[in-house]
Amino acid sequence: MDLGLKDRVAIVTGSARGIGAETARMLASEGMAIVVSDIDGDGAVAAAKAIADNGGKAIGVRCDVRREEDVRAMAGAGRDAFGRIDVLVNNAGLVKDRSLLKMDETDWDLVLDVTLKGAFHCCRAVLPAMHERKWGRIINITSRALFGNPGQANYSSAKAGLVGFTRALSLEQARNGITVNAIAPGFIETEYIQSLPNYAHVRDNALAKNAVPFGGEPRDIASAVAFLASAHARYITGTTLFVTGGRYG
Ligand SMILES: NC(=O)c1ccc[n+]([C@@H]2O[C@H](COP(=O)([O-])OP(=O)(O)OC[C@H]3O[C@@H](n4cnc5c(N)ncnc54)[C@H](O)[C@@H]3O)[C@@H](O)[C@H]2O)c1
Repeated sequence: MDLGLKDRVAIVTGSARGIGAETARMLASEGMAIVVSDIDGDGAVAAAKAIADNGGKAIGVRCDVRREEDVRAMAGAGRDAFGRIDVLVNNAGLVKDRSLLKMDETDWDLVLDVTLKGAFHCCRAVLPAMHERKWGRIINITSRALFGNPGQANYSSAKAGLVGFTRALSLEQARNGITVNAIAPGFIETEYIQSLPNYAHVRDNALAKNAVPFGGEPRDIASAVAFLASAHARYITGTTLFVTGGRYG
């Protein structure tokens, strides 16, 4: 199936590594030009170079999604390099896990700001031009943790909030040719997860709760992003696609 993505342009936030980097790589392999954007500027440039070395089109841009001026400059760099932005993947995210009584306000604000304020700034930076062209795709990476995980009151709140944001924006933009959807990954094996001191426990626990007898990989999320970004997904908006190996809750 031709996804019809060739020559379109995507921003993927938080794409220096992990799910974002694989999403950037897969979208580039479909012929898209990619703005690889991350607070880790060196990582973003390296991930973009890896795409270019494989014959794809990409630029790497340092951007803290919490800062409106960073986001506007990053989107501007994408437009200068590739002429327009068709697809935005709000993927940047992080965890700062603690039980609520041990969680300080800084960790609460950080997780909510990267997830929610980041999506707010990024969407506002790309929507006017999408609106003018009457075509756009926004894909927000939430998490199965939106149902609530102990030690993750900040992360679960942020990811549940991102679903509300997705639904509200999808209704605002549905008549402008712009779809807005979310993807909720379950356990996905990334370098970050593999580096956790309790990696074996995290993995075993996830595999015990998955319906399928294996864990997810970044390409499982990247494929879902590619489909939702494609012309074939034109009738899908406001939804949350669970890519969790059959685990809900
Ligand atoms: N890996 C999983 O099992 C899993 C499960 C559910 C949801 N998710 C979500 O998927 C997304 C990607 O996760 P991952 O596992 O690849 O994590 P990761 O830590 O490997 O990648 C996240 C990237 O976001 C970047 N980032 C952090 N703060 C930022 C900021 N302020 N501005 C810009 N970039 C910033 C980091 O530098 C990093 O490169 C996240 O939103 C995460 O919450 C992951």
